[in-house]
Amino acid sequence: MPYVYIKTFGCQMNVYDSGRMRDILLQQGYEQTEDPEKADVIIVNTCHIREKASDRIFSELGLYAPLKKANPDLIIVVAGCVVQAEGEEFLRKAKPADIALGPVSYHLLPEKIEQVRLARKNGNKEQSRLLSAYFDGAEKFGCLPKTFGRQNACAYLAIQEGCDRFCSYCVVPYTRGQEYSRGSAEILSEAEEIIRKGAKDITLLGQNVNAWHGKDESGKEHTLGWLLRKVAELDGLERLRFVTSYPSDMDDDLIAVFGENEKIMPYLHLPVQSGSDKVLRAMNRRYTRSEYLDIIGKVKATRPDIAISSDFIVGFATETDKDFQDTLDLVDEVKFASSFSFKYSPRAGTVGATLSGQVPEEVKGERLTILQAKLQQYQEEFNAPFAGKVVKVLFEGAAKQAGEYVGHTPYMQTVTAQSSDDLTGKLLDVYITAAGLNGLKGKIEF
Ligand code: SAH
Ligand code: SF4
Ligand code: F3S
Repeated sequence: MPYVYIKTFGCQMNVYDSGRMRDILLQQGYEQTEDPEKADVIIVNTCHIREKASDRIFSELGLYAPLKKANPDLIIVVAGCVVQAEGEEFLRKAKPADIALGPVSYHLLPEKIEQVRLARKNGNKEQSRLLSAYFDGAEKFGCLPKTFGRQNACAYLAIQEGCDRFCSYCVVPYTRGQEYSRGSAEILSEAEEIIRKGAKDITLLGQNVNAWHGKDESGKEHTLGWLLRKVAELDGLERLRFVTSYPSDMDDDLIAVFGENEKIMPYLHLPVQSGSDKVLRAMNRRYTRSEYLDIIGKVKATRPDIAISSDFIVGFATETDKDFQDTLDLVDEVKFASSFSFKYSPRAGTVGATLSGQVPEEVKGERLTILQAKLQQYQEEFNAPFAGKVVKVLFEGAAKQAGEYVGHTPYMQTVTAQSSDDLTGKLLDVYITAAGLNGLKGKIEF
């Protein structure tokens, strides 16, 4: 039995993609292992979003290269966004890699593995290292296996690939290509399949997920609100979410779903990036601060208890102290339940990297510290009132601490609880005994 070891960096799209690469190989008779030393194929799924993420790949490959001495048949596959961004250059730099696959061409995995094996057997050096990096969303999704391996209680389902927004800091339009919406029938049958394989909480994925559009059986065109209602009808599904939304694509129909369908969880990740109109313009984000706040107002009016989360970039080119203050003020206004925040990392090939007025690293660092302190304060404030309450928690598996299990609330807070029974996959009432910045602790209610 050949073994595959998979290491994943980056966003939820990469987690989904790694799952599909696993499924492709499981169908070929492979088994997944958590031990790279046992592996016949190692897959490293990479992220290119910030310099740090991208640089880690080379040290990671350094860990696996020596394993080839013990197992000369070992094949190292590098997949994901770094491969797409760097192309041929990547194979030249990443010596231990035998196969490099972009995020929209990994359906070719079995074929490439076979080619490398054959080339090694025949001593054909040229064919023993291969690259495939092109974009064809329809081909990729059309080729993926229709049967899936076992799913976690919380599962991802990609409904869209690529992005056409071209925010000036971002590499994604270059690494995942043009925006492509999967067809609704394909999405619904995949949702049914992953529910059969254990999923209870599904997150629909896309880099610009709320721009999803597609047709029903009669050929009528629909947007994401319609799709959410359709997926929510599936038996066995308890919870439904979607990420990542682009503020200007939050249409009224989509907002209405939060108020009418109890399977749609009260959680919305709506990255704002900056609170300054000037910086938003420089970022090519096509909304203003006040438009963003209007959308949040509508969402909160529809679902007052909703948890709003966001992404922030500090120190984008031209950002002044005043612009940064606008971001801090916006945080005070929205009071985000959770968030991710980053120092701007200029990326080759993007417009942002060519702008004058780049902010020094120390200033970025100072601003990030200030912003994160404020974000943490609101995250704690969001969590605190849960202490003493009973909340429904979907448990995903064992926590690091022995005898503890970890799961999520409808608001995406992490909950840990002790149990002598295996709670994996169970949706239970949990009495919250403590609430902190990073999550909640609970006791199972019987
Ligand atoms: N499609 C999503 C996010 C994609 S990347 C959206 O439109 O919001 C995830 C997050 O990484 C972004 O929201 C942004 O905050 C951050 N990010 C992207 N490029 C970055 C860069 N060059 N430097 C720092 N952070 C970046
Ligand atoms: Fe990147 Fe902007 Fe597309 Fe998000 S919407 S993936 S930030 S280009
Ligand atoms: Fe990274 Fe690619 Fe996702 S660059 S954030 S893995 S789309």
